[in-house]
Amino acid sequence: MKYDIEKICDEVCRIAISAGKYLKEEQATFSRGKIEMKGVRNYVTYIDKEAEKRIVAGLSELLPEAGFLTEEETVQFEQKEYTWIIDPLDGTTNYVHSDTPYSVSIALMKDKTIVLGVVYDPVAEELYSATGKENVRLNGQPVSVTSKNELQNAYIGFGIPYSLDSAGEKILQNALAQFRNCSFRIKGSAAIEICYVACGRSDAYFHSALSPWDVAAGTFILNCAGGKCTDFSGGENYIFGRELVASNGKVHDAIMTNIIK
Ligand code: IPD
Ligand code: CA
Ligand code: CA
Repeated sequence: MKYDIEKICDEVCRIAISAGKYLKEEQATFSRGKIEMKGVRNYVTYIDKEAEKRIVAGLSELLPEAGFLTEEETVQFEQKEYTWIIDPLDGTTNYVHSDTPYSVSIALMKDKTIVLGVVYDPVAEELYSATGKENVRLNGQPVSVTSKNELQNAYIGFGIPYSLDSAGEKILQNALAQFRNCSFRIKGSAAIEICYVACGRSDAYFHSALSPWDVAAGTFILNCAGGKCTDFSGGENYIFGRELVASNGKVHDAIMTNIIK
């Protein structure tokens, strides 16, 4: 089946903004007594689940024949010709501590290729969207990556995985290997941090033990904006492979020399 991807993207933006507004309103009155734990320092709330239900309802109307892969599993996973990949609230740890940023992340995959990405930060009111290289935007304006071509004074994001194995230590070692050269930030929403690379706010981002819903939309947006995404081996398995190095393309090789798998 063929779709008008631009029209679909407009609708997805509307759905993401609406879910983001819900997140922001609920955060104002959220009580920490309502936190549930998925694991050590891995939080979830009724708000993650309710936001996901709302997004799924909207997208089901938009493309009734599409399947879903969602973090909170409020709808059964089904891979179809078109499959939505959704994180209704990326940055839950920030969210439950009354902190920011956090985001809504929605990607559309056709067979095994992402064809649309939308990430919305409701607090900054920043909407990132892409359907291709000619159409990658922040709040409607075209964006592109930085021109920085060396790690000296680069501005780099990374994140600490929830997993309790050695992945966390390795990520810190990766940062340590480069820290004398660069400024580092941990913002706490992978989807947003990848979009920061796409819009030229930062030069690179790396993280391990991520899930497809954390990265599917952001990496598509970044690729469309002229950036580069790989797994820790330099390969293309960064959406389902749980490892991501995302950059403006020009500092990618330099970062890879210090990435410990
Ligand atoms: C998390 C955020 C965080 C990253 C974690 C993710 P969640 O997603 O993206 O920045 O460090 O690994 O799981 O749990 O808030 O949706
Ligand atoms: Ca997430
Ligand atoms: Ca989430």
